[in-house]
Amino acid sequence: MRNGSQEIDRTYPREFSAGDKTITLRLMRPDDRDAILAFARSLPPDDLLFLRLDITRPEAVDEWVANVEAGRTHTVLAEVDGKMAGYASVHHDEALWTRHMGEIRVLVSSDFRQLGIGRRLVNEVFLIGKALGLQKLTVKMTPDQRGARVTFERLGFQLEALLADYVVDHEGKPRDMLIMSLDAAGFSDVEHLAATATS
Ligand SMILES: CC(C)(COP(=O)(O)OP(=O)(O)OC[C@H]1O[C@@H](n2cnc3c(N)ncnc32)[C@H](O)[C@@H]1OP(=O)(O)O)[C@@H](O)C(=O)NCCC(=O)NCCS
Repeated sequence: MRNGSQEIDRTYPREFSAGDKTITLRLMRPDDRDAILAFARSLPPDDLLFLRLDITRPEAVDEWVANVEAGRTHTVLAEVDGKMAGYASVHHDEALWTRHMGEIRVLVSSDFRQLGIGRRLVNEVFLIGKALGLQKLTVKMTPDQRGARVTFERLGFQLEALLADYVVDHEGKPRDMLIMSLDAAGFSDVEHLAATATS
């Protein structure tokens, strides 16, 4: 696969079953801009409360698309019956002294949560980050994002820092920020683990 300036040895689309649904994972393309904006605007207010980047704003999605085109962001979309159900991204910047790190962002629409989609999305972007040569992957959230905390803990992420009143939510209220991280070398592909467990 070619994305931005780097080659990654991972093929898409990929499919898996979640409950009675078939989920398709594929890479985001620049022409997904309008679908992403429509997805963001269809989310209930609670889903938007803790978004670190307000993707209901066209300029935020444009910046995201520009980062995808530049190879700074790699995004995997999850689709059900051709409609977006969620996404995960890994973002890194080669110009920074944190160039060995990648930051993961993930969102699954509340209609499709707790079906295993979040785990698979994070798995994909982690493997992409690893293939890019990133050494450490992080995720930022507020302490009350329970689903996020459990999802990342299950994949082996550990608490790295808790920063007081570090972010403001959608309503302008200050919240603590929690950073979790995992070294790339310590990660196991959940797809591979599932295949070896059943074989
Ligand atoms: C975090 C998020 C992506 C998880 O997506 P999901 O599709 O529901 O996650 P999964 O179904 O793959 O669940 C993974 C694990 O977490 C557990 N989990 C998920 N949500 C949970 C919740 N609210 N409470 C307790 N456990 C939860 C699941 O049971 C599963 O555990 P298991 O490995 O023991 O089976 C989703 O909750 C979300 O979009 N939250 C809002 C955005 C966000 O917080 N993003 C993270 C910061 S960028």
